[in-house]
Amino acid sequence: MVNILLRPAVANDLEILWEFQAMAAYEPNVAAAKALPIVATYLDGWQRPDDFGFIAERDGSAIGATFARQFTPGANDAYYCVERTPELSIGVRPGARGQGIGEMLMRAVIAEATGRGLGLCLNVRSTNPARRLYERLGFHAVPGMTVTNRVGGLSLWMALSAKSQQTTPPAPPGHGGA
Ligand SMILES: CC(C)(COP(=O)(O)OP(=O)(O)OC[C@H]1O[C@@H](n2cnc3c(N)ncnc32)[C@H](O)[C@@H]1OP(=O)(O)O)[C@@H](O)C(=O)NCCC(=O)NCCS
Repeated sequence: MVNILLRPAVANDLEILWEFQAMAAYEPNVAAAKALPIVATYLDGWQRPDDFGFIAERDGSAIGATFARQFTPGANDAYYCVERTPELSIGVRPGARGQGIGEMLMRAVIAEATGRGLGLCLNVRSTNPARRLYERLGFHAVPGMTVTNRVGGLSLWMALSAKSQQTTPPAPPGHGGA
């Protein structure tokens, strides 16, 4: 991939991340995304100590981003997937899709999670072609976690399989990981 710079997302990147969160949530713009608590919760208070992410830039402009946040049971039951398994969001600008940037971002966030001894999960609409990308990278559907989404379709949870986490240190007792 030429002319693409991948860098970690930092606290000052909040507004950039919002652009890509709006895309990931299929909202028409950032204002619409911010108005939806179920979408806004992914970035409220960014960058919390455990939040991490990456931004892809071409010629100094952000063209894609991914970021991950661990939700907690009780406080965030609607989003919580598995402990020690943050949920990621990802978006690439429409004109830049299909060129491998999404995969590059996914590999970066997977490597970061693996280095932290964490799994990763995501929520994807059943009709989203991005499922193929996630499956190629080792994500699998979590059994029993298909839900009706806010637009009346089906969304499923996907998590990294144990095989793709081979380099991850064993989780502490009582922590199941992905
Ligand atoms: C999903 C997305 C981040 C992938 O980024 P990308 O740079 O296009 O991905 P890559 O070029 O690395 O990989 C191509 C794969 O991305 C997926 N993809 C391609 N175009 C897509 C699109 N318009 N929408 C969703 N996924 C798409 C497919 O899985 C494709 O693999 P395939 O060729 O086998 O079908 C990007 O397409 C996007 O922002 N889509 C809209 C928002 C979205 O769906 N976010 C994820 C929500 S879970």
